[in-house]
Amino acid sequence: MPTETVYGLAADAGNTEAVLGIYEAKGRPRFNPLIVHCADRAMAGTVGEFTPLSERLAAEFWPGPLTLVLPLVANAPLAALVTAGLSTVGVRVPAHPLAQALIRKVGRPLAAPSANPSGRLTATTAEAVREAFGGRIPVLDGGRTESGIESTIVAAGTHALVMLRPGAITRAEIEAAAGVALVDPTANAKISSPGQLRSHYAPNTPLRLNARSVREGEALLAFGPRPLASDGPALNLSVTGNLREAARNLFSHLGELDKTGATAIAVMPVPFSGLGEAINDRLKRAAAT
Ligand code: TXA
Ligand code: MG
Repeated sequence: MPTETVYGLAADAGNTEAVLGIYEAKGRPRFNPLIVHCADRAMAGTVGEFTPLSERLAAEFWPGPLTLVLPLVANAPLAALVTAGLSTVGVRVPAHPLAQALIRKVGRPLAAPSANPSGRLTATTAEAVREAFGGRIPVLDGGRTESGIESTIVAAGTHALVMLRPGAITRAEIEAAAGVALVDPTANAKISSPGQLRSHYAPNTPLRLNARSVREGEALLAFGPRPLASDGPALNLSVTGNLREAARNLFSHLGELDKTGATAIAVMPVPFSGLGEAINDRLKRAAAT
């Protein structure tokens, strides 16, 4: 199903067989929990325990690209595999009309990781999903997704918020709404995002970050009005240097350049401000081997 961030591989979160199908299709390690997608705050309350702080974030950003990691409700209607045995659950209420319609039609929460084989590039078009899974999985075609980068994941305790994954909503936006600073997961080892592996989001072609020039045989992923000189294939994340546009283009441009047969993809620097935090996070993991 399309969401406003990226495509998701959806299954009835209460059906163990269906959820198992997700792990098998993706080749996903079983220790990596899935995000539970709900139609609204009321449905989210059947799986996660809210505090005033998480309530405030939900009111501000749902429906939308924020995933809250909350204490799991006792006897939540979820297959144990969904949370990989953790005592917490990642929940979000997607804004995309097709995702909303699908959840409401099923009438229950849907577990959905990004619709790509584990560790590979995230799909932001129906075409990319079909390519990734060889047409084995039916796709609800919602065109190209709006933000192009995954949801921001925040673990919400009573007094503190931990940023588990930078994403489509910026750190500054969350801090402004919450009235508290987001802390890093390293500062609180008890809470972590098991799926935030060092190597992730990877194309087959190696990435070379912070490129100052393009070498023979390389493709170029440019950013901004002054792209590096190159003779090979080149795409620009945003000619005007707009980070929202760059996030939207990130995975699809990497996917296109991956098909060119280049020896490597040289990536120009992208600023770390605003959405740049999430873009740089994905680039760093895509470059890791
Ligand atoms: O935008 C998105 O979030 C997309 C769309 C489809 O909703 N979904 C997505 O799912 O990015 P996935 O599986 O690619 O990434 C989910 C991340 C993983 O890193 C996983 O470890 C983490 O969320 N996660 C899920 N439940 C968690 C929990 N209870 N505690 C900590 N991390 C959790
Ligand atoms: Mg993913």
